[in-house]
Amino acid sequence: MLKKMTKDFQYPIFKEFDDVWPILTAGDRQHGFNAMTISWGGLGTLWNKPVAFIFVRKQRYTYSFMEKCDSVTLSFLSNDYKEAKALFGSKSGRNIDKFKETGLHATLDLDFNGYYVAEAEYVLKLKKLYSLDLKEEGMPENIVNNQYPQKDFHRMYVCEVVQYLENEE
Ligand SMILES: Cc1cc2nc3c(=O)[nH]c(=O)nc-3n(C[C@H](O)[C@H](O)[C@H](O)COP(=O)(O)O)c2cc1C
Repeated sequence: MLKKMTKDFQYPIFKEFDDVWPILTAGDRQHGFNAMTISWGGLGTLWNKPVAFIFVRKQRYTYSFMEKCDSVTLSFLSNDYKEAKALFGSKSGRNIDKFKETGLHATLDLDFNGYYVAEAEYVLKLKKLYSLDLKEEGMPENIVNNQYPQKDFHRMYVCEVVQYLENEE
């Protein structure tokens, strides 16, 4: 028999985005890279592939790397790194070196030609498959008013999950 979910029910993957906050790193050896914290997104299946859905506003420095490069990673760090994650989500790589500032390290995965955060508990290595600009049309009015007062709608990226790395320590 199925039981009604309680209000505080937290299915683990929701928590991974809403509470753990992955660090999104986009870029490659040719173009360089940048990283920022995200909490909007999800994992699922599309076109028979395991995928991640990611939403990036165009004013982010990371956006330029999302556009130029195909290699993307999501690094999930424990909440011992919450302060570092907050910095990755509030300062721009245009102005500061967030890795230097927080003491985190970016690792280049040569075969994949992309970067991830060395301190992560686990990492999803992704390749961009498809992207689409969110549009005001069809969006609930309260969401437009509350989330997009500047009308700076996110670009959604669908990325294939090509590999999963786990920290052995
Ligand atoms: C918890 C948290 C979640 C965030 N989620 C997103 C997100 O899903 N998409 C987005 O575009 N920005 C998101 N941001 C904002 C960016 O991380 C932030 O603007 C960052 O400074 C951009 O850095 P950059 O300019 O170096 O790319 C989030 C920030 C925080 C603190």
